[in-house]
Amino acid sequence: MQTSVADGTKTQPATGYALGYTDAEQERLIRQAAIIAPIAERLFRQAGIGPGQRVLDLGSGLGDVTMLLARLVGPSGEVVGVERDANSIARAKARVAAAGLRNVDFLNTDVNNVVAEEPFDAVAGRFILVFLPDPVSVLRSAVRLVRPGGVVAFEEPSWKAMLALGTRLPLWSRTRQLIHEILLGSGAIPEMGIALYRVFQDAGLPPPKMHLEMPLGNDADFIRLTSDLLCSLRPLAEQHKVSLAELGDLETLPERICTEVAAANTVVSLIGVVGAWARKSTTPDSS
Ligand SMILES: C[S@@+](CC[C@H](N)C(=O)[O-])C[C@H]1O[C@@H](n2cnc3c(N)ncnc32)[C@H](O)[C@@H]1O
Repeated sequence: MQTSVADGTKTQPATGYALGYTDAEQERLIRQAAIIAPIAERLFRQAGIGPGQRVLDLGSGLGDVTMLLARLVGPSGEVVGVERDANSIARAKARVAAAGLRNVDFLNTDVNNVVAEEPFDAVAGRFILVFLPDPVSVLRSAVRLVRPGGVVAFEEPSWKAMLALGTRLPLWSRTRQLIHEILLGSGAIPEMGIALYRVFQDAGLPPPKMHLEMPLGNDADFIRLTSDLLCSLRPLAEQHKVSLAELGDLETLPERICTEVAAANTVVSLIGVVGAWARKSTTPDSS
């Protein structure tokens, strides 16, 4: 691999990331990734990511998007995941090895610090720009690493689309609203999905093609993903003075939500996933 880290450091401490790095949060990310994998695969295929390509995955976490991309590009392609948490990379590497994938590498660095000697055919990422203070500047830098005519494809959330559903379910709605409030307090941008339309253009790309998909469900595992997200955000709730008291005992919250959803004989949404993709201009970089 000819990709490196601009500041030359091998590892960097991971700070300031809203969801944190507990084992429980890592398990939640993996379970969430399994549910939304088909949505991501559709996006990347539609965007034109395929065999033989060299792809950069920003904010690779535990490697779920990286592995999906690695299968799409096949043995003749390669994927480089960028992640600033060294423990997440260690776990991602173990998962990549267990999956028998040999076309993957990881860079332990901040997404602001990536440099590459060879251009990428595509840059991708999921649920990363939502957490960045300056997503336009990160995307602009990443686009510089992509060859002319290459692909840029991201998946980011839309909370408003999700909050609009389930308003007849008071406990469920309140749980989601409080999570939304904590995310806003942390400086995250929960509407980053819809904002991609502007962010792509501000980063020098054409207006992206976009879609919004929402996995729906009502079983205990599906609902637990939301209460587990709240648990990951609990330290931030305290920090930002968002009281969770009205939700009662968080241990029994998933059961109580399940009862509410079952009584209404309905389904709820896990997350609104916005996919956006565009091709970099084929004329040489003016930036
Ligand atoms: C919500 S997780 C998403 C992981 C993966 N893309 C997925 O969808 O399963 C976001 C990841 O981005 C990483 N991250 C956040 N800010 C970062 C930054 N500035 N540089 C590098 N990684 C970052 C976090 O450490 C975390 O692993």
